[in-house]
Amino acid sequence: MKIESMQDYQNKIKRVVISKEEIDAAVKRAGRYIDSLYDGRPILLVSILKGAFVFMADLCRAVTVPCEVGFMCAQSYFDSTESSGSVRITMDLTQDISQYHVVIVEDIIDTGRTLCEVVKILRGRNPLSLQVVTLLNKPSRRQVEFDADLALITIPDYFVIGYGLDCGEYFRNLPYIAEFNAEEE
Ligand code: IMP
Ligand code: MG
Repeated sequence: MKIESMQDYQNKIKRVVISKEEIDAAVKRAGRYIDSLYDGRPILLVSILKGAFVFMADLCRAVTVPCEVGFMCAQSYFDSTESSGSVRITMDLTQDISQYHVVIVEDIIDTGRTLCEVVKILRGRNPLSLQVVTLLNKPSRRQVEFDADLALITIPDYFVIGYGLDCGEYFRNLPYIAEFNAEEE
């Protein structure tokens, strides 16, 4: 994907599919879900980088239980809108999670491969408990069976950008979620 001007950049943003207000409401829902589940017990929120960094920043401020944050980098997309099919953990947590109630914070579940792999790895480390919260869910695209404990917004099969989600590393800073325009102008 080539972006050489502001015009190129804006042409890639087809239409807003989830507004900032809808995202805010979903984040609040997730905060209440986590608060009620852990009822004052401390938790570790684990964000899957890079896509989930924006959701993590908002979600950690929507929960009121004592919480620590941790980051893991899992890569499956390489500068394209198609998954490569394999998942690599390129940065791991620094915490020993055996003493933690862990909540995985993900931006989107697409084929399901990333979370399937991450959950397998983290379960193997025997956390006190493990939950998965995702902002977006594309169930029609699943390649491996995987369900989050809380999936906030279900979307059809189109590629989305914004609020942490990228295409070719751009658009993560959009405050809303938009459909990506894949057509060359
Ligand atoms: P999965 O392993 O196929 O479930 O894909 C998970 C990762 O792919 C997500 O964490 C995203 O980083 C990326 N991804 C999947 N669908 C989209 C999309 O529509 N826009 C941007 N990134 C996506
Ligand atoms: Mg991601």
